[in-house]
Amino acid sequence: MTRIIALVNQKGGVGKSTTAVNLGAALAILGSRVLVIDDDPQGNTTTGFGVEKSTIGPSTYDLLMHQASTDDAIHPTEIDGLHLVPATINLAGAEIELVSELSRETRLREAVLAVASRYEYVLVDSPPSLGLLTINALVAATEAMIPVQAEFYALEGLSQLTGVVHRVREALNPSLHVSGVLVTMYDGRTRLATEVLDELARYFPQQMFKTQIPRNVRLSEAPSFGKPVMLFDPKSRGAQAYMALAHEVAAQHDRQPFASAPAGAALPS
Ligand SMILES: Nc1ncnc2c1ncn2[C@@H]1O[C@H](COP(=O)(O)OP(=O)(O)OP(=O)(O)O)[C@@H](O)[C@H]1O
Ligand SMILES: [Mg+2]
Repeated sequence: MTRIIALVNQKGGVGKSTTAVNLGAALAILGSRVLVIDDDPQGNTTTGFGVEKSTIGPSTYDLLMHQASTDDAIHPTEIDGLHLVPATINLAGAEIELVSELSRETRLREAVLAVASRYEYVLVDSPPSLGLLTINALVAATEAMIPVQAEFYALEGLSQLTGVVHRVREALNPSLHVSGVLVTMYDGRTRLATEVLDELARYFPQQMFKTQIPRNVRLSEAPSFGKPVMLFDPKSRGAQAYMALAHEVAAQHDRQPFASAPAGAALPS
């Protein structure tokens, strides 16, 4: 069965797009067929794959507005077996235009299901908000992955986010669960970072990935070359961390799925 993973966190700059690009690349390098869908008008994932926005044809916007088939929006990338549905700023319009449309929450799911059988993984990058684009990502997904930056405000907003996951699960997508919380930009030398990690582990005792993504400058440089970090600098700590994460994600098949409500302590609101 295809695993459809929505990368969600309404907090900006936590590593959603970096994870979409590099986890996608790592899973494909390990031999899986992977589709990455850019569901964010910022188009950072699209840029990260070196797809020139001014030349792209159909994109996520057209899928949501029923103006193109998913096949028409799929782009190849430099990595074998890794495909991209790109996004441009026009996707911002979809959020408004969809409001009055029927089936507005399930548009992305329809589009994904049309091609899902060809892929082992579909990764959906989402914007830093809990609006209709993120709801579409969660309705399309079989699981939600939450990247969290190891910083002081890391836990802020997480109860709201898990609440939204819970409501989507109840209303529209019974199989949705939080399959993992990923700590990003981690610096184990600072006490704050280790404290944040400990605190997250209290709230998500079973969903924390063992792999943390370290703060690594190669990860932030790679997008300006339009390459996943594995092609840009495969020996970097960032590349190695995303390869380790891909192994861990692939091994998760056997893991017990958890409901969105964390089994740990109640999250601060
Ligand atoms: N592990 C890392 N080490 C160093 N820099 C990183 C790392 N992860 C992400 N970055 C950088 O941090 C910034 C934010 O990352 P990213 O764009 O992936 O976050 P995001 O959650 O997608 O943001 P947004 O919410 O705006 O879409 C980017 O400049 C990215 O290159
Ligand atoms: Mg992003």
